[in-house]
Amino acid sequence: MSLLITNIGELFTNDSHARSLPASAAVVLDGERIAWVGAAADAPAADERIDADGAAVLPGFVDSHAHLMFAGDRAAEFGARMAGEPYTGGGIRTTVGATRAASDEELRGNARRLVREALRQGSTTIEIKSGYGLNVPDEARSLRIASEFTAETTFLGAHVVPAEFRDRPDDYVALVCGPMLALAAPHARWVDAFVERGAFDEDQARAILSCGKERGLGVRVHGNQLAPGPGVRLAVELGAASVDHCTHLSDADLAALTSTRVECMCHDGWDTTVATLLPGAEFSTRSPYPDARRLIDAGATVALATDCNPGSSYTSSMSFCIALAVREMRMTPAEAVRAATLGGARALRRDDIGVIRPGARADLLILDAPSHLHLAYRPGVPLIRTVIEAGRAVFTTDSSSTPDGVPQ
Ligand code: NIG
Ligand code: FE
Repeated sequence: MSLLITNIGELFTNDSHARSLPASAAVVLDGERIAWVGAAADAPAADERIDADGAAVLPGFVDSHAHLMFAGDRAAEFGARMAGEPYTGGGIRTTVGATRAASDEELRGNARRLVREALRQGSTTIEIKSGYGLNVPDEARSLRIASEFTAETTFLGAHVVPAEFRDRPDDYVALVCGPMLALAAPHARWVDAFVERGAFDEDQARAILSCGKERGLGVRVHGNQLAPGPGVRLAVELGAASVDHCTHLSDADLAALTSTRVECMCHDGWDTTVATLLPGAEFSTRSPYPDARRLIDAGATVALATDCNPGSSYTSSMSFCIALAVREMRMTPAEAVRAATLGGARALRRDDIGVIRPGARADLLILDAPSHLHLAYRPGVPLIRTVIEAGRAVFTTDSSSTPDGVPQ
């Protein structure tokens, strides 16, 4: 089935090769792919049609960092933080207890709820990490269930050292590298480690990430979130696709991010390690935000993601992260939208998403607004009118242009 979206007020393509588009643009989708992009007046015929009525159209958001495999919440911990308690990451163990105690159906139900919540808000791709099981069976089942929802699954057995290994962290590293990875790897595309005081040090993280690499997983790192440290350096050394948080960066970290090209299965075979910024975490832990302007001006590739998790950032809203990035991190609205779409795609080493061009996956958003600026200009307002995922309108608030069979 083909679908024509016409009368688009602003088409935000992220396509550097595209010719500049006229005021009223159109897109044709054919099955799961984008087939044609151009002036509305030249649009070819299609089986069905959506009139965007002058609204902005952009690629679906790519949320490249989310922790959705958990049970319970930590609202009380948030309340205590807002009353002055610091965030240390120690609450992760609370969620580990709740996750281990949950049934498969509870874990699946919670993940499904959050994936749907994210989709309604425009996230047509979402990465999902394990990391609240922290033993062999619970890490393996977290990833098995996560892979029911996304191809972008990440093994985060190296989230923190669980309580039962508190006095023998090296035994835990050995467990992660051996039996845990053996059962987790078949369900994972990526391996991740939290490199931070109180979590894993440089050598422990290097060991785990290298084991993951040997099993064919791509590398991602949680680094430099709470303090300066070796996370960024290690990520670049190991050719990670992304290093996430990047809140405390030295000049040497910045130089590593901008000057080191790492091998990848992507466009020309080489890319840099993407700096993925997660402003929901700074919001929710009342911490200073990362300086996106410094990264962009130095030439780093920046992604924005939600970090959706029950402790440090319980939001699934990419629009909220865009608004924070613009207001608090010195990004322009266009840079923030690009980071939330193309940036996330680069962080996942994907060429087929985060962009509107012929051949790309037909993941698009129609806004209830004439331009991308409104995502930051109207914070907290639900501006996603229609979500199209792989060519299918899966959510819309607009009954006048609802194609048959679209769930409301
Ligand atoms: O990305 N930094 C490590 N992991 C999560 C926090 C998880 C939690 O507090 O439960 C993060 O912020
Ligand atoms: Fe995280």
